[in-house]
Amino acid sequence: MGNLIAVGNLKGGTGKSTIAVNLACACAELGQKVLLVDADGQGTATDWHGMGRLPVGLTSLPLASDRDAGAWIAQILACKPQVDQIVVDLPPQVGSGIASALLLADLFVIPVTPSGIDLRATGRALDLLRRARAVRRSTKPACLLVPSRVDRRTNLGRQIDQVLERLGLKVGPALRQRAAYVSAFDSGRWVGDCAHGAAAAAEVRALRECVLALLAAQALPARAA
Ligand SMILES: Nc1ncnc2c1ncn2[C@@H]1O[C@H](COP(=O)(O)OP(=O)(O)OP(=O)(O)O)[C@@H](O)[C@H]1O
Ligand SMILES: [Mg+2]
Repeated sequence: MGNLIAVGNLKGGTGKSTIAVNLACACAELGQKVLLVDADGQGTATDWHGMGRLPVGLTSLPLASDRDAGAWIAQILACKPQVDQIVVDLPPQVGSGIASALLLADLFVIPVTPSGIDLRATGRALDLLRRARAVRRSTKPACLLVPSRVDRRTNLGRQIDQVLERLGLKVGPALRQRAAYVSAFDSGRWVGDCAHGAAAAAEVRALRECVLALLAAQALPARAA
């Protein structure tokens, strides 16, 4: 049964699609079977995948309204047994759709850029996380905050990791602000498959290792039982 990794935050432009697509491809690089789910009606991941150069499959399943949530959950559950990882690129809007995704997710990856506005939106995303855990009566989904689009030349860019650690949640390796992430999208590739993407690819692989370790740690009690 595959893991469900939901990538989201309640703020536009934090790097959700960039992280979802690159993380999915980095898992595929290990030989894992990965399905990318584009749950955002904007279709960024779908457009990226449409160029035909990503090593993963993609399903476009926009999470639009309460009415759709049941069907959305059923479609995701049907995919789970066939893959190792499902990576969901969530939309930025607050909505019960995201809450539905968190009822299924094994891990909630929250990209946060170094800005006060993003930190506030992250607080609201964490409210959704707490609600999902309460409904599930579980510590699931696990949560990983990922500093995203980080410019270490700025004060908040230098401090973002420590600021996020104060929230008491696991903080993953940062993705710096790099042109390679933008050109990867433009060329329809992931950074590990781009000529000048080495530094970005190293960041994404570090994130992949952190994500896989968290998922493995979560699976341990179930296996022991
Ligand atoms: N680490 C990065 N370095 C440089 N540019 C980045 C980085 N991450 C994302 N970007 C760029 O920032 C813009 C927004 O990124 P992306 O689309 O991934 O964000 P998003 O959170 O999915 O946005 P939305 O809320 O609209 O879905 C894009 O132009 C993308 O190429
Ligand atoms: Mg997006």
